[in-house]
Amino acid sequence: MEPLKEQINPARLPKHIAIIMDGNGRWAKGQGQDRLFGHYHGVQSVRNVTEACAELGVEYLTLYAFSTENWERPPDEVSGLMELLVDTIQKEVPTLHKNNIRLHVIGKTEMLPEKTISVLGDAIRETASNSGLNLIMALSYSSRWEMGEAARQIGLAVKAGKLDPETIDQECFQKYLCTRNFPDPELMIRTSGEHRISNFLLYQLAYAELFFTPVLWPDFQKENLYEAILDFQTRERRFGKTSEQLG
Ligand code: IPE
Ligand code: IPE
Ligand code: MG
Repeated sequence: MEPLKEQINPARLPKHIAIIMDGNGRWAKGQGQDRLFGHYHGVQSVRNVTEACAELGVEYLTLYAFSTENWERPPDEVSGLMELLVDTIQKEVPTLHKNNIRLHVIGKTEMLPEKTISVLGDAIRETASNSGLNLIMALSYSSRWEMGEAARQIGLAVKAGKLDPETIDQECFQKYLCTRNFPDPELMIRTSGEHRISNFLLYQLAYAELFFTPVLWPDFQKENLYEAILDFQTRERRFGKTSEQLG
């Protein structure tokens, strides 16, 4: 059998892959360790998947790293995750550069600790001229927050006389989402065997192909990503049309 990577058809590569990185806690528990141990090991999976996407020529990779609901977790886990985030970003900037990767962040970032905000801001600025893979970290993100925020911004623009309410349509609405500069994901992967969306990109996933795997995030390797892409390439994407219409 040809290696999985070689079986991928480069002409049908998803432009944008989104991943719900789930199962760190269960992975750690399985080894009798605390949840943070799982988060630490999850970082290697982030590296592997990012590198694999850059090598394949995927243009956008969105990683769900922390939801607005995750703020409700025990304070030790939240602060441990924030420290891990700062450390990882600081360490990885040279690698992002080397691989021509541009970092973006989406989410209610004002809720993040000051240090995290400043480290992220630096990394975003430093990688802004890279032209390869766009790595989008969803941090303190939830889709309902994003849509509520878009509605608020639209209301403010109308009030200020900058937006005619008669012109509000899907195209206009999309411009107020924090994903306005990115195409919709074509493939969404969730690890850890959970079959749900957990408030992730509800609007943008309208026509995404969904791939669920029981693999826990710290065990997720490049091969698992190739498997998801190969599965994606077998799907017939009809967008409401009939099979015959697709030709
Ligand atoms: C995903 O792993 C990482 C975050 C949500 C930050 P979890 O921490 O949700 O791990 P499980 O689902 O409890 O195993
Ligand atoms: C979703 O995972 C959020 C991230 C992976 C960042 P959760 O573990 O928080 O989701 P639920 O609670 O199982 O739905
Ligand atoms: Mg989870």
